[in-house]
Amino acid sequence: MSDPLEVLRRHSSRAAREFGVLETPPLWARGEGATLWDERGVDYIDFTSGSAVSNAGHGNQAIRQAIEAQLATGVFHTGTLVPSPQKARVIERIVSLAPPSLTRVHLASTGGEAVEVALKAVRYATGRQNVIAFWGGYHGRPMGALALTGFRSYRDPFYPVNIGAHHFAYPYPYRNPFGLPKEREEDILRLTLAYLEQALDNPASGLAPVAAIFVEPVQGVGGMVVPPAGFLRGLRALCDRFGLLLVSDEIFCGFGRTGAWFGCQREGVTPDVMIVSKGLSGTLPVAGIVGTEAVMTAWPGGTQSSTFEGNPIACAAAVASVDFLVQQDILGNVRRTEDQIRAWSQQIAGLPFVGEVRGVGAMWGIEIVEPGTTRPAPELAKTLQSRCFEGGALVYRAGHYGNVLGLLPPLVATEQELATGLARATVVLADAAAGARHPLSAGG
Ligand SMILES: Cc1ncc(COP(=O)(O)O)c(C=O)c1O
Repeated sequence: MSDPLEVLRRHSSRAAREFGVLETPPLWARGEGATLWDERGVDYIDFTSGSAVSNAGHGNQAIRQAIEAQLATGVFHTGTLVPSPQKARVIERIVSLAPPSLTRVHLASTGGEAVEVALKAVRYATGRQNVIAFWGGYHGRPMGALALTGFRSYRDPFYPVNIGAHHFAYPYPYRNPFGLPKEREEDILRLTLAYLEQALDNPASGLAPVAAIFVEPVQGVGGMVVPPAGFLRGLRALCDRFGLLLVSDEIFCGFGRTGAWFGCQREGVTPDVMIVSKGLSGTLPVAGIVGTEAVMTAWPGGTQSSTFEGNPIACAAAVASVDFLVQQDILGNVRRTEDQIRAWSQQIAGLPFVGEVRGVGAMWGIEIVEPGTTRPAPELAKTLQSRCFEGGALVYRAGHYGNVLGLLPPLVATEQELATGLARATVVLADAAAGARHPLSAGG
């Protein structure tokens, strides 16, 4: 049998990322909870959740049984022309957890696709073409979503991206554009919102007619950036004043990761549309948007469709996952996770290259900087990520500058699993700080 790594090295697109962390990455043979085992039987604590997807944990039996039950019916796929009970059930679950005025759902398969659906929905509902998004925002790679995504390295090779997207600063206390110390969160928030308000108000600001503001309640790929409390409330007020729709991209935050079912609920804010995927999915591709009657009934039948939306196996997995998270009172475990990671963060906060450790729920970021400065150190972050992988702690890498190590465990992670994984990460970070393996000059 051919060696899978060799096949991928020779035939996988160079744009894929499977060799981005290790030249010889592990191949998973088994998974349970927050732990994965490779083919040699070596265990790894997973702080990536497969990019914030496996909220209900690896090997989840409820999901497995739901998929097997659906497979046993012989109905693997239905298409979009007849209704499906599994689609109805997943829609019911989304609506039951969403803020009460979000009552209608349109399903999709991936996060990026759901962002495209949201773009079409807000354009149709308002008759306006343009949107506002934020620095460090990540909304996916299809062309519309890419236009909202702030990262130049993802956009530059593919210009033109034909959605009019205006980007404004996200209130990122550690790297705010006002030169204020991060502790002055209230001022940072006030200035961020005032600048946006001016742009909306000033007839000479160059803004094209705006349909909606797209925002992540906590930035994920942007580096677990937690905005000061009041940011979403401020955006809601601006949307109401200027007649814009508010779209909360909950693809990363949703289904419990921030300690609430949806990130916008941390501030008691109801957007006009939420975009969901990842944590909803039960690990098979499911995504969607959930919005108000006004937005979701504006467009007539057939204006949006894709072949796999509402796939019964994927929907069965999603239903089982959501039911599992609710029945297990997963938000309680997320609070415990938050306490444990916050307490652990004290151990590494004083290391010379740790600029800040921040987060909420099961969504934490370690800002890696050049020692003694706030300058981002992405190469060091890469090195540390590789060493954590080698040491049995799978950490994510994110950030406006690619210099933030992310901790995103499955929401079911036990105290013991977290303690094991965090201890492994501590060894890598402390070793690096001691210069034991000269990471500052190694770069890989
Ligand atoms: C907030 C957010 N929106 C959209 C996406 C895109 O989702 P997908 O990779 O499924 O296209 C992501 C993926 O990381 C995300 O974090």
